[in-house]
Amino acid sequence: MIIIKNKKQINGIRKSSKLARQTLLEVGKHIKPGVSTEFLDKIAVDFIKKHKAIAAPLNYGGFPKSICTSINNVVCHGIPSSKEILKDGDIINVDITTILDGYYGDTSITFGVGEISKQAQQLIDVTKKAMVLAIKKLKSGRKLNDCVGQTIDEYISTFAYSAVRQFGGHGVGIKFHEEPLVFHYRLQEHYDNLKNNPILKEGMILTVEPMINASLEWEVKIDENDGWTVRTIDGALSAQFEHTILITKNGHEVLTKLEEENL
Ligand code: MF3
Ligand code: CO
Ligand code: CO
Repeated sequence: MIIIKNKKQINGIRKSSKLARQTLLEVGKHIKPGVSTEFLDKIAVDFIKKHKAIAAPLNYGGFPKSICTSINNVVCHGIPSSKEILKDGDIINVDITTILDGYYGDTSITFGVGEISKQAQQLIDVTKKAMVLAIKKLKSGRKLNDCVGQTIDEYISTFAYSAVRQFGGHGVGIKFHEEPLVFHYRLQEHYDNLKNNPILKEGMILTVEPMINASLEWEVKIDENDGWTVRTIDGALSAQFEHTILITKNGHEVLTKLEEENL
């Protein structure tokens, strides 16, 4: 069931979402060549603790760290490590989920490390814009996949890119992952039903978090050794951006956006 959040829950989720974003921007300040992803994890943990919250990923389904750090061909769920050192030209997605007073906020950005290639920058720009265009469509009364999957598919169709299908966005707030599953590609007709493509209602909270591969190959594979790290199967770069969004009567509110930020 999709949870419709009440005022109190919305306020709590809004606070956690802002903290997640602040944490993410704080981590972003430390991204440069020579830094380990374990160090970024520590920056996040210290910041989250200082604000009396908890990092949601730690021990979630056995995940061993507090944030996800996904470099280059890693699509998502990369595990921070002291052996993994950022180098000039890398791209890295940092994904932060906080629990504050029991409420969840979930957000991510793909950053460039030092100077990155034109191709990498274009992938980042297109992935961010795909997320933004989808978010802008969200409004009560509209169907979820018409706003998100269709918009993203249409926008990326002029690039040799593809949207990952094996992972999606999700309802969020009371738990880490709630219904509905948010597909970032257009659902085929026989999958286009009320469960997969619900009508948006005021008080729903969900994430939009497209993972875009710089390849027409959307397939990904999970690392057999750690059981988490998701990679493109052809080694292509992959980028991702994520926001937590509240559906309102007249549109939406991006809960993970700070006042001083533009979408
Ligand atoms: N933050 C991710 C998301 O956007 C989920 C990470 S699950 C973890 O849904 F266990 F890897 F942390
Ligand atoms: Co998410
Ligand atoms: Co996330």
